[in-house]
Amino acid sequence: MNSKFDYDKIIETVENLGMFDCVKVLDVVGSTNDYLKESYNDFDRGVVFAKRQTNGRGRLGRTWLSEYGGCLMFSMLIKPEISDDIVAFVTQLTASVIHKTLVKYTGSGYGIKIKWPNDIMLRDKKICGILTERIVMRGEKSSIIIGIGLNLYESITDETLVDIASTIEKETGVFVNSSEFIKDFFLEFFRALENFTFKNTISSDIISYINENFYLMDKVVTTNDVTGVCGGIDESGHLVVDGKKIISGIVESVSEY
Ligand code: BTN
Repeated sequence: MNSKFDYDKIIETVENLGMFDCVKVLDVVGSTNDYLKESYNDFDRGVVFAKRQTNGRGRLGRTWLSEYGGCLMFSMLIKPEISDDIVAFVTQLTASVIHKTLVKYTGSGYGIKIKWPNDIMLRDKKICGILTERIVMRGEKSSIIIGIGLNLYESITDETLVDIASTIEKETGVFVNSSEFIKDFFLEFFRALENFTFKNTISSDIISYINENFYLMDKVVTTNDVTGVCGGIDESGHLVVDGKKIISGIVESVSEY
C-alpha cells in the first residue's frame, strides 16, 4: 500500500474539523459510494476513505481503476436542503472546490482545468473524477453521496489508462500533503455548500470560476449528438454547445477550434 498517504493523520485531521458524525478509513471496500449508500440512515454527515476499492465506480456505469495506489479515494454523505431543480449542481460545486484547493498547492501555472460535469484535467489527462449519487425516500430529506477519486501520487501504469489519466505528482512534481489537502478541501466545500443551501440558488461566482477554468471552453465538442464550439456553462450549470443547452450527458470528442 502506498506510504505517501498517512491515513491516521487524515482521520485525526477530519475528526478535529468536527464536521462529520462519522469518519472512517477502510482498508478495502467494494466502493466507498456503495458503503455510504448502505449506511445512509445511520448519520447525517459522514465521510469514508478507502485504501483500496475492489469495485470502484465512475459515471455512466464505468469502472474506476486505482490499483496503482496513488489515488485518494473517499465519499461524503450529506443531507442538504436544496431544491430538486438545482441539486445536481453539487457535482460542479465540488469540482470547483477540488480545483481551487489543488491550485492552492500547485500554483496556477500548470493549467489544471474543470471538465463538465465531473472531471478535473491536467494536460489533457484526467486527474480527478467525481461520482455524485442521490437517495430519495418519501418523507425523508434526500441524501447525496459524493465520491471523489483524486490521483495525487506516482504514475498511472495501467495500459488502458496511461494515455488518458495522470497524477498531480507526475505532471507537476508537486507533493500534495493529503491530510492538509483534505482539511482545506472540507473547509472550503462546506463554506460553499452552506452558501448554496442558504441562498438555495446557484452562485454566479462559482459559475464564473468554472468558466474561467473550463477545459472545454472554445473547443469543438460533440455531446448528445450536438457538435459545435463550447461556450462554457450557463447560469444553471448546463453545458452550452453551439448555443444549445445540454443538461446532462457525456462529451464524446474534443478538439481545438
Ligand atoms: C468518474 O470519473 O466517472 C467518477 C469517478 C469517481 C471515483 C470515486 S473513487 C471513490 C468513490 N467510490 C467509487 O466507487 N467511486 C468514487
